[in-house]
Amino acid sequence: MADKNSPIGVFDSGVGGLTVAREIMRQMPEEKIVYFGDTARVPYGNKSRSTVIRFTRQIIRFLLTQDVKAIVIACNTATAYALEEVEKDMNIPIIGVIHAGAKTAVESTQNGKIGIIGTEGTINSGEYTKVMMKMREDIQVTGKPCPLLVPLVEEGLLHDSVTDEIASRYLSELKGKYIDTLILGCTHYPLLRSTVGRLMGPEVTLVNPAYETALELKQVLEEQGLLCESCGSDQEKYRFYVSDLAEKFTNFAASILPGRVTETKQINIEEF
Ligand code: DGL
Repeated sequence: MADKNSPIGVFDSGVGGLTVAREIMRQMPEEKIVYFGDTARVPYGNKSRSTVIRFTRQIIRFLLTQDVKAIVIACNTATAYALEEVEKDMNIPIIGVIHAGAKTAVESTQNGKIGIIGTEGTINSGEYTKVMMKMREDIQVTGKPCPLLVPLVEEGLLHDSVTDEIASRYLSELKGKYIDTLILGCTHYPLLRSTVGRLMGPEVTLVNPAYETALELKQVLEEQGLLCESCGSDQEKYRFYVSDLAEKFTNFAASILPGRVTETKQINIEEF
């Protein structure tokens, strides 16, 4: 039985999942988090299903050594490819980022036309569409891979004419489909929310799966009696691990997280 005062394990292919960690910190400030970013093997978005499943299994094994009480796959591509594969072997709760965002999109659409932007892996997997179709059969889903947006965010070009131009080209295809709801189906895209919102116009509702996932996590922890009772001190609350370039990760994390990121440790994930 998991201990309610243990940390939550959160992982991603790199820095992107920090948008999910940030929402967990905002919505459940008392919870401890162990974050792993697979910075040596990012991106996952253009890798095969079997490779992403193998990486996911290794990371879960690492997080279990940290005595986590629940795991969040804070990566859309890893959720799309690996969640179903790995969840059957788990004896603690594990959630991905797709279900919560898909549910919110289905609830929010008025005309039944939903768009998704994400990595090639996420869009080609059809996972968002599959999950939404189970909730409502008559919706029409249009997916659009936007691979260049990830490196632009990682370069810090959040408000830049180059990012505007590229986002505008990707989104023009969706504009012709009369969608009224758009899922930001990649960890990095919430950081481009204002750009995407401006380009799509006020009639399109943007769904941020990072925010919705933190809400879902809270509900799952509550249902299983796993919400934290005695909080750790601020110093020990958040621990960060990566597979490469720890300092670069720390700098990025410091730029988007509310609190101080003291240190990031590098581990050899291939050992797990
Ligand atoms: N974290 C990935 C996702 O949400 C984006 C970056 C990558 O391709 O690894 O799909």
